[in-house]
Amino acid sequence: MTPPLELEQVMLAVELGPLRLEHPLVDASGTFDLLEYARRYRGDFFADFPYAAYVPKTVTADARTGNPPPRVTETPSGMINGIGLENPGIDAWIGGLSEWAALRRPVIVSVGGNSPDQYAAVVRALETHLASAFAATVPRLEGFELNVSCPNVAGGPQIGADPAATAAVVGACRAETTRFLLVKLTPNVSDVTLAARAAVEAGADGLSLVNTFKAMVLDRETLRPFLGNRTGGLCGPAIKPIALRMVAEVAQALPGVPLVGMGGVISGLDALEFIACGATAVGVGAANFTGFEAPSRIVAELRAELAARGFASPAAARGIALDA
Ligand SMILES: Cc1cc2nc3c(=O)[nH]c(=O)nc-3n(C[C@H](O)[C@H](O)[C@H](O)COP(=O)(O)O)c2cc1C
Repeated sequence: MTPPLELEQVMLAVELGPLRLEHPLVDASGTFDLLEYARRYRGDFFADFPYAAYVPKTVTADARTGNPPPRVTETPSGMINGIGLENPGIDAWIGGLSEWAALRRPVIVSVGGNSPDQYAAVVRALETHLASAFAATVPRLEGFELNVSCPNVAGGPQIGADPAATAAVVGACRAETTRFLLVKLTPNVSDVTLAARAAVEAGADGLSLVNTFKAMVLDRETLRPFLGNRTGGLCGPAIKPIALRMVAEVAQALPGVPLVGMGGVISGLDALEFIACGATAVGVGAANFTGFEAPSRIVAELRAELAARGFASPAAARGIALDA
């Protein structure tokens, strides 16, 4: 056993591809609404932002109204949602950028769509805007996360379940940007490394995993599907062991590719487990619904967990679960 360190001996900064993050934690897309928090926060929320980078909710080329209610409910050890990618569409989204231009952290824009053209249109619209916008009117948009894995939208199987379709989306977006390009993988497959490899070969710089697991909850009275969309995506502690297994499989199959691991992270130890499985950064989703203080608590716990084990940095612990 390595002797423990003092808390201040742990340096939490990590490098996610070209992005230097103050610590490994980012919010999972769709679970942390910056403007909503900023409205309720008493201080300068943009300066005190608890995550090392901000991943907003997925934006698509056209506005989407999402699925009929109910859209969210609790399950034992998790939650299920069937939001259906409600968003204002990329033009209105760009129109709102100046509202949070004061954010000091890197932003990774989550992009959705039903075809390579739709994804590429979102990336192109943002690149065009960034090329002409005054720096003071836009946040630090430093990367994209291609969400090929939302289980809650109509239009056939998820793109992310098909490696060739995944590669086509990545290729179309790679042609539009030189910024850091992540692809968010679906767990709703038997071998997650196939789409992972296809994404990287098509030009992705890194991978995020996992999105939610397609699932169903029944109304206890009527015994009919509870969610308006019938099915939804399961997340939270229930999925953590499966997500850890998938992150480890991708880390082993594609060594050196930066990974953002997520699925059921509620504590600093959960975050450390994803790092041990090979993740560089760790996404936090469902935990955001437990309270405003969740991200800063998880960061503090991660520091304590690293110190207790004598790890001077997240990099020192990265991948140790892969050795056995
Ligand atoms: C209410 C809700 C909305 C979500 N919206 C998105 C989204 O817009 N884009 C996306 O890529 N993932 C979305 N997700 C999935 C999360 O980003 C994350 O991948 C998943 O919840 C697993 O992490 P967790 O167990 O920590 O919640 C959403 C999850 C929830 C609970």
